[in-house]
Amino acid sequence: MSRICKQRHVSTCLLLTICAVLVAQLSGCASAVQSDKPERTVWLSSLNLEKMTSGWGSPQKDKSIQNKPLTIAGRTYEKGVGTHAASLMYVDLKKSCRSFSAYVGVDDEVNGKIGSVRFRIYGDGKLLFNSGVLKAGEPAKKVDIDLTGCKTLTLAVDPAGDNNSYDHANWADAAFVVAGDDPVAIDAPVFEEEKVILTPKPGPEPRINGPKVYGCRPGRPFIYRIPCTGRRPFRFSAENLPPTLKLDTTTGIITGTAPAKLGEYPVALKAASRHGSSQRTFKIVVGDTLALTPPMGWNSWYIHYNRVTEQHMRNAADAMIASGMADAGYMYVNIDDCWMKKRGDEPYRDAGKAVLPNNKFPDMKGMVDYIHSKGLRAGTYISPGPWTCAGYVGSYQHEQIDAGKFAEWGIDFLKYDWCSYGQVYKERMKQTNDDLLEKKRPYRQMGDILKQLDRDILLNLCQYGMSDVWQWGGEVGGHCWRTTGDLGLAGGADLSGFYHIAFSNAQHWQYAKPGQWNDPDYILIGWVGNARGMGEGKPTSLTPNEQYSYMSMWCLMAAPLIFSGDMDKLDEFTLNVLCNAEVIEIDQDPLGKQAPIIAQTDEYFIMAKDMEDGSKAVGLFNTTEIAINISVSWNDLGIEGSRRIRDLWRQKNLGTYKNRFEMKVPRHGVAFIRIFPTGSAE
Ligand code: GLA
Repeated sequence: MSRICKQRHVSTCLLLTICAVLVAQLSGCASAVQSDKPERTVWLSSLNLEKMTSGWGSPQKDKSIQNKPLTIAGRTYEKGVGTHAASLMYVDLKKSCRSFSAYVGVDDEVNGKIGSVRFRIYGDGKLLFNSGVLKAGEPAKKVDIDLTGCKTLTLAVDPAGDNNSYDHANWADAAFVVAGDDPVAIDAPVFEEEKVILTPKPGPEPRINGPKVYGCRPGRPFIYRIPCTGRRPFRFSAENLPPTLKLDTTTGIITGTAPAKLGEYPVALKAASRHGSSQRTFKIVVGDTLALTPPMGWNSWYIHYNRVTEQHMRNAADAMIASGMADAGYMYVNIDDCWMKKRGDEPYRDAGKAVLPNNKFPDMKGMVDYIHSKGLRAGTYISPGPWTCAGYVGSYQHEQIDAGKFAEWGIDFLKYDWCSYGQVYKERMKQTNDDLLEKKRPYRQMGDILKQLDRDILLNLCQYGMSDVWQWGGEVGGHCWRTTGDLGLAGGADLSGFYHIAFSNAQHWQYAKPGQWNDPDYILIGWVGNARGMGEGKPTSLTPNEQYSYMSMWCLMAAPLIFSGDMDKLDEFTLNVLCNAEVIEIDQDPLGKQAPIIAQTDEYFIMAKDMEDGSKAVGLFNTTEIAINISVSWNDLGIEGSRRIRDLWRQKNLGTYKNRFEMKVPRHGVAFIRIFPTGSAE
């Protein structure tokens, strides 16, 4: 710029300077590049491709991900990079890159399959290019972006369909125009955020939490520990408690059998101490619907995998009480896979043909009794197929006997995981050729068995969303059903995997209702293992703001809240994410609505959930790399007039707003608010 300035009038110089700044701003980057070196082309494929991540296989130089010529909609490209969503690469532009160009699309090698992807390019954190959804067979999109002044470029490819199958993504003919040092592929930056604890610590006074309504079947065993924060000891009381139930006034644990007569039993729960008292109506509904609110608890999978032992389960129950999680409403302590005998380790079954636990579970009944003695509930896992996903014994052809054994042990929750049932399904299809019938068959069978048992056992369908399970999961006796593949295996390029699982799960919002919940899988925060290879636990790689977003989304989606990190390593930050009573109240609302996504752009999305009291819970989620303002209008929410707004993470009133609400939201973070009519009690 200075060289040109010497030759021209000052005002022209000023104009040129402003223009240069504007160009730099429009391209999303900082300042103009200066170099006298001649321009040349540097191919993307000449960079170190080991720095590019890929959802499957490894990125290929000048070839597709399957090592074939790069081809998009019939056109072949000599140069470029073939990768697979989700894929991410960071490039240090050495401040010498003028522009970047490419043709992007899905490689023809997927041959009519369902691949669909979205390419995004960021310059210094700002979005410079978005391809929109590109499907297999569609022509390539041309990329041509100015990089003047840019320091770092991010090349991201994300799955744009339900999952990442056949997402073979090409950066074809991709090249930089460079005048200076060559660009260099670099490691992904680590986003260090301060772990700000937003949830205020509960005071010493009692506060009763947990669901306001609770479903059970007549005459079945009943156990409920009143979740209550504050400084113990408390004196609990329960007015109008049905006479078949008994309350321990010190622990707050209600036990007995559910009333024989169908109907609603509103019980006035109270907890008192020298610090104050708390009251809440707890409606027991005796009927045939269980899980009137989404189940809450912990599952062993993502921390103990095949290492799980009976002692882990007992410790988890202890930790659920000691950490305060049970006081926030968590109650199920669930073993996942690997508690039975492994394939080859016979005998698999006892004399009565019931499935045998392996030697890490010497006393299953004693373990369940222990969990119950704390007022908590016990869950287990098995497959309808001959083997579980990890190769342990399944229930195939022993369903009735195994379910009877679970009830004998006192099990309250069963995760029923498809796994090797695929073999059985294939055989059955030869006879009926009816996909839906055969997909439903094992679940209907177990659903029917559980209904006949003298015990309330929740049924969690785990078959990864096949054949639109949300449409029929309830009909076959399921209380919740996984809508996607395993969250622990889900990848994301510019966003972590849980966002993609959430986008997929959110589509089925209209199917959620009391007793029937969409399940987007567990809450994987705190110390948590890597699902690939059943890795040992380590601190989550999610940033603090991502964790707030994760928990907010799960609550808005009325998802089962099942934590699956290490119960022995619960730190203050993780507990603040898991145990905010006002956040959990959104999940546990008796109306049982799941929030749809009511607005979505390339920078943010908004979820809104109707609450029983007429208020609305709203999440404003920032999906960009920088803090942005996000606003929601009353029009979008179908409301009018003055509204009182509460920040749920901070448990703080934000004041009264008319027509719209706007807030600055951090990178990948959330503003999670509840909007009440003015005049409603604070
Ligand atoms: C499947 C399920 C997981 C877990 C494992 C256990 O992958 O989806 O949640 O239960 O099996 O093997």
